[in-house]
Amino acid sequence: MRLAVFASGNGSNFEALVHSVHEGVIDGKIALLVSDQPDAYVLTRAKKLNVPSVAFTPKAFESKAAYEKEVLDHLKEAKVDLIVLAGYMRIVGKTLLQAFPERIINIHPSLLPNYPGRQGILDAFMDKAEQTGVTVHLVDEGVDTGPILAQETVAIEEHDTIDSLERKIHALEHELFPKAIQKVIKELQKEHVK
Ligand code: GRF
Repeated sequence: MRLAVFASGNGSNFEALVHSVHEGVIDGKIALLVSDQPDAYVLTRAKKLNVPSVAFTPKAFESKAAYEKEVLDHLKEAKVDLIVLAGYMRIVGKTLLQAFPERIINIHPSLLPNYPGRQGILDAFMDKAEQTGVTVHLVDEGVDTGPILAQETVAIEEHDTIDSLERKIHALEHELFPKAIQKVIKELQKEHVK
């Protein structure tokens, strides 16, 4: 199974996924890193970890479809089977959704459907929620919607600050995401054998 990881920023989840492949938690290969931010730190990580990468400036394209068509060409060339969004701050359009039906997975730092959007951790913290968490789900045309594959809770304790909460959430993400991806891979492999 050949994976492409899409990321826009820091890339700690990307790095955790690469390690999970090395450790055998994920039975696959990270064939490509795709970023929509040419200056993102995740590109430096990819270089260090010897993962091929491509970066785009979506604004330079005449439409979202044109941008995604270009991305798709790279995915085809890398023979990608499954797309993993790990901090990809962009809504996936029809072009990619139709090319990878039920084969795009996202991670979100809250207990969806609570606190979707760009700042799931901060929103739960500011709301003084007692708990929040991490969700892995299949991507559809909505924002942080789509069938849930895995979900785990993180307590927001009295002494927590936004920083300590972020640390707890990211640590859980790095654990949960590889396991959830491996589950999907297993299912796809079963289908393939049928
Ligand atoms: C993670 O919290 C993820 O859930 C969200 O974006 C963040 C990416 O973090 N979608 P990183 O770039 O992997 O460190």
